[in-house]
Amino acid sequence: MKYGYFDDPLREYVITRPDTPLPWINYLGCQAYFGIISNTAGGYSFYRDARLRRITRYRYNNAPYDFGGRYLYLRDDASGEFWSPSWQPTRRSLEDYTCRHGMGYTIIRSKYQGIEASTRYFVPLDENLEIWQTTVTNHRSQAAELSVFSLIEFCLWDAQDDSTNFQRNFSIGEVEIEDGVIYHKTEYRERRDHFAFFACSEKTTGFDTQRDAFLGPYHGWENPAVVECGHSGNSVAHGWAPIGSHHVKLSLKPGESRQIVFVLGYQENARDQKFDPPDSQTLNKKAAKAVLTKYLVPCVADTSFEKLRRYWDELLGLCQVDTPDVHTNRMVNIWNAYQCMATFNMSRSASFFESGIGRGLGFRDSNQDLLGFVHMVPSRARERIVDLAATQLPTGGAYHQYQPLTKQGNNDIGSGFNDDPHWLILGVSAYIKETGDWSILDESVPFDNAPGSEKPLYEHLRRSFRYTLDRLGPHGLPLIGRADWNDCLNLNCFSDSPGQSFQTTTNKDGKVAESIFIAALFVHAGRELAKIASHRGLPAECASYLAEVSKMEATIRKHGWDGEWFLRAYDDFGRKVGSKECAEGKIFIETQGFCTLAGIGLEDGMAAKALEATSRLLATEHGIVLQQPAYSKYYLELGEISSYPPGYKENAGIFCHNNPWVIIGETRVGNGDAAHDYYTRINPSAREEISEVHRCEPYVYAQMIAGRDAPTHGEAKNSWLTGTAAWNYFAITQWILGIRTDFDGLRIAPVIPGGWSGFKATRKFRSTIYQIEVQRAGSGNQVSLEVDGKPVHGNLVPLPPPETKTVAVKATLR
Ligand code: GLC
Ligand code: GLC
Repeated sequence: MKYGYFDDPLREYVITRPDTPLPWINYLGCQAYFGIISNTAGGYSFYRDARLRRITRYRYNNAPYDFGGRYLYLRDDASGEFWSPSWQPTRRSLEDYTCRHGMGYTIIRSKYQGIEASTRYFVPLDENLEIWQTTVTNHRSQAAELSVFSLIEFCLWDAQDDSTNFQRNFSIGEVEIEDGVIYHKTEYRERRDHFAFFACSEKTTGFDTQRDAFLGPYHGWENPAVVECGHSGNSVAHGWAPIGSHHVKLSLKPGESRQIVFVLGYQENARDQKFDPPDSQTLNKKAAKAVLTKYLVPCVADTSFEKLRRYWDELLGLCQVDTPDVHTNRMVNIWNAYQCMATFNMSRSASFFESGIGRGLGFRDSNQDLLGFVHMVPSRARERIVDLAATQLPTGGAYHQYQPLTKQGNNDIGSGFNDDPHWLILGVSAYIKETGDWSILDESVPFDNAPGSEKPLYEHLRRSFRYTLDRLGPHGLPLIGRADWNDCLNLNCFSDSPGQSFQTTTNKDGKVAESIFIAALFVHAGRELAKIASHRGLPAECASYLAEVSKMEATIRKHGWDGEWFLRAYDDFGRKVGSKECAEGKIFIETQGFCTLAGIGLEDGMAAKALEATSRLLATEHGIVLQQPAYSKYYLELGEISSYPPGYKENAGIFCHNNPWVIIGETRVGNGDAAHDYYTRINPSAREEISEVHRCEPYVYAQMIAGRDAPTHGEAKNSWLTGTAAWNYFAITQWILGIRTDFDGLRIAPVIPGGWSGFKATRKFRSTIYQIEVQRAGSGNQVSLEVDGKPVHGNLVPLPPPETKTVAVKATLR
């Protein structure tokens, strides 16, 4: 069952009924001012940091789920009837409801008793504000006297404090109202130098800023007293809960339309210019007023919207493919790339499932996010790499997370996730391959942000590699520390007290438990580092990396192979995890995926065997589960993984992030059919038809789909912010379609399904546009290349002379 459809030419998903199984959201903003918005206009906005600079309030885990948002109420002043054109909060039966989620904007349109209202929400480029452009049309045969009420609830900035510290917060709220503009300035008199403003292009007949005055005693958002009676209270918030609401009256003749522009913005003032007059406590509104004068004009809103559209056309235009599969095309050309921008911006902080409070930018997460983002805005990728590296510790280890506003590592989580350092090597190598910008290696970057500790970025990579060699366990495999990629495999935790964090509790000395996943990651990252060293003219160093890599590979073969598949780990007792000897958790996906992706066991059949076992034991119609059999009870020695009920999250859920590792593994053994089949099983667009089962948005990946042990097998959770976005983008574009960036040029090495006759692609790579045509002339994956009509040996398209605009590549598969 579907709740809408894809409008590919407009790059939109069109939701046709408001009662989707879960709120289906979109993101506004892609630089500094951000918001999440649901299909019923729920959600919130923030500036840079979803916790520390929350502009509007949102109540998570509400009933109904999605409450608090960018709401409008329309009121027929003749009859007193009122409704919300975005359905929530009033939930009247609307006609012709549609919500169009597009690239950085959302348009919600509906009709009620002959009155149509359509609102376009977006954040203009390079501005710290959002625009709601509302058009109201009277389709009746009589004139209509209408009232429009806007509504937002302000957050008192720190979202964590805002939702807990009521003894203080109920007394601190402050606003100013001038010329119908509502300014929210809580804590501005003391240490804050920022405020929010909410304005409207039409003449207002009233306003409200005190929540209780707007709602009325014991009224909810669905029937505010002010809307019921049709008059604003002109309330001025003192303490309690400041809101912003305007009242606009509209008289519309039959057929007449009117547009109202609302602007919600964030403004910072210089410390010495906070007040106007300077010796007062009144906000200096100069800068905010200038912005409002510009944006409260419908035609300016239109032109800034067009600019936003062109921005996305350009970004998405960097890589466009035309394959025989509509779901592949749609995800690569539109939604997967778009989601990669969201994960790059948000990391795992703010979504419908991530409250914007708990988690900063992850070291591991953000490095992986680069895989799907680096081609879009390389300069921002570079900046991110430098920020991440600056949180690395002198040992080569890293803070697991950092806060985007301060860029300092988070002490409450700390470090000791022993896979973290290697992701930096992979992030940097992806960046260099994309851009050819080797100079990043000479960038001077501190350790732990300590002034004076700066070293070239290359030295950071060296220490990343070294970190593992300094921490090998009894079998010569890497010690796992608090966890590796699987945050929930906590082999040194041994926690038996409720409430203790699995991530930060360590009751063992950590000298025994080893990770075969980190071993595979070390092999993969080590090979990348060796290539980088060789390019830097350090042959001896390159050779030493390769020697360590071969040694680790041999150790994996010896101590990391279970006979039919790769083991997962050794626990603190030195016992195998992910082995046929185990009662539960006999086989794990991570090592089958990452070992084969890293090319381990390609020559001797180990890789093929591991993939065969994966298909036999882990694959389901909804994707590949994390391990089998699921843990049916809590194992003290395994940690959080066994805390989840069977089939959810890391305990045998389909953790979509690691499915592309197996997909890439399948391409490495040349099996394009299996690779694309796995790709399709978790492709959200391909799952659109079963939206009642999948339940999350059909246009973006979710972190998890419930595994076969769960009663809700096939149900997705934690959509949007997941490493799944970048890894699937990487797997489909670089490994299945095989358009692969490399240090010395673009490689064309497709491993596509046998049934495909070929495909076409346009890929911008280092300022040249590659027009690629792949044709199948046989059933294999052997590539013959022709570049601009001339045969080229191998599968690497040599870099063209600098000024070259386009290159035509023809690849024939035999
Ligand atoms: C979450 C985390 C990621 C981790 C994964 C598996 O997606 O963000 O860092 O690797 O879970 O535990
Ligand atoms: C929880 C989640 C896991 C996440 C981790 C870090 O353990 O299950 O997916 O990565 O928290 O916050």
